[in-house]
This record gives sequence, C-alpha cells and structure tokens, in this order.
Amino acid sequence: MRVITIIPTYNELESLPLTVGRLRTAVPDSDVLIVDDNSPDGTGELADKMAAEDSNIHVLHRTGKDGLGAAYIAGFEWALARDYDVLVEMDADGSHMPEQLPRLLEASAAGADLVIGSRWVKGGEVVNWPLLRKIISRGGSFYSRTMLGLPLRDITAGYRAFKRQTLEEIDFDAVESRGYGFQVDMTFRVAMMRKRIVEVPVTFVERELGASKMSGNIVFEAMWNVTRWGLGARWKKLTSRK
Ligand code: GDD
Ligand code: MN
Repeated sequence: MRVITIIPTYNELESLPLTVGRLRTAVPDSDVLIVDDNSPDGTGELADKMAAEDSNIHVLHRTGKDGLGAAYIAGFEWALARDYDVLVEMDADGSHMPEQLPRLLEASAAGADLVIGSRWVKGGEVVNWPLLRKIISRGGSFYSRTMLGLPLRDITAGYRAFKRQTLEEIDFDAVESRGYGFQVDMTFRVAMMRKRIVEVPVTFVERELGASKMSGNIVFEAMWNVTRWGLGARWKKLTSRK
C-alpha cells in the first residue's frame, strides 16, 4: 500500500517542520506532499529545503491563496498521476496528530473507502478549543448531518484517508466549495456514491503556533452550500416519487 499525506499550507512557517518531522517519524512509509499557496511568510521556500533533504517529501507550489478545497484538489491530481493507493489529508499546524495516522490507515486497509478522523465519536476529543469554537463545529456537523441525511458525527473533519479509487470516481470540476465546506462537499459525494465511510476517533489539538484561516465567509459558504444540497436532494426524492 503506497501512502501519501497531503498537507496544504498558508503561512505555516513555524508549524510545518514540526508536523512533517513528527509524520516522518510516526509513519516513515508515507510520502508527503506540501501544497503551498505562495505563502508570504516563506513556507514554500522552507518546504523546498525540506524536500531537498528528504526524497519522500514533495512540494506543489500554487500562485496564490485560493482556499483549502482548491489546494487539496491540486494535491489529489498530483498524487493520482502517480502510483499512490491511499491519499491522506492533514493540517500543517499539528492539530491532526501524525501519531494517530496508523489508526486511519488500519481502517483504510480494512476496507473503508473514506476514513474520517473524528472528534465527535466516542474516544475522540478536542484539546484547547474555546467553547464557541466547539459549538460552531458540533453545530455545523449537526446541521450538515440532518440536512444531508448522513449518519456521521464529524462531517467537517479535515483528517482523512481516501482510497485512490474513491477519488478517481469524483469529478473534481464539479466540486465548487473553496473553503472548509470542501470537506462536507467531499463527504456528501462519497456517501452518494454508496461508498464505505468509517469514522475513527482522533484527538484534535488546537494549534500553538501561527493563526487559523477560518473566517465568517468560510462558515457562511459551508452553511449555504449544505442548505442548497440538502434541499436539492429532498426535491429530487420528492419529484422522482410517482
Ligand atoms: N494551500 C492552502 N491554501 N492551505 C490553506 C488554505 C489555503 O487557502 N487555507 C487554509 N490552509 C491550510 C492551513 O495552512 C492549515 O495547514 C490547514 O489548511 C487548516 O487550516 P486552519 O486555518 O488551521 O484550520 P482550522 O484549524 O481553523 O480548521 C480545522 O477545522 C476545520 C473544521 O472542522 C481544520 O481541520 C479543517 O480541515 C477543518 O475543516
Ligand atoms: Mn488549525
């Protein structure tokens, strides 16, 4: 099983080397692809240096900040053009513990088409989040779950492992979400394909270095899309029933 972990970066100069170092130690068999959106703080140049010293590390440079979803799609396309079997999504800031990646890979090897590292299943947790951020995440997951009719607890999670084939069957041109709604978008698509989605518990540790790129706009885009998709799916069901 050839594994690649894709890490999108925007101004992660301090966090990136720590996260990649931990990942290389925890799962030495996984290659790493850093997808940098021309970070003003020089994260892209640092990534190049790391890649020059370790042939398992690769870097994809994009011209400017274009959102998490766009960065991941570029990363998926890069990896699918090569012979990887499992494609992992991981944040650069240390929130997704590389030491827990084996859990995701085990579930993947056991047959899950998509594994979600979940904060909101038994055994999962969030460390160092203010109450408001917890409410937004749980609320967002609850709203998405109800609206889209998905039996999942952590629909917006960003720690994931996709089987190659799962991604090959998705038309990336049809994925419109730019921001973190991308995660919901992908989950909904995989669920519609009747694929096996498994949630494994993870500990999400809030970053200590750098800043989150979450914004009101990103939350709004996600809620708006979920509402549209949910109503669309219901409408389709209603009109197809004779
Ligand atoms: N290339 C690129 N371009 N990377 C980006 C961009 C972008 O426009 N925006 C964010 N990133 C990268 C960050 O550098 C980081 O590595 C990762 O995406 C996550 O960004 P954060 O800003 O740290 O996200 P968060 O901690 O607020 O959000 C977490 O929770 C979300 C909701 O559950 C993440 O785990 C998200 O993946 C998750 O959807
Ligand atoms: Mn973060």
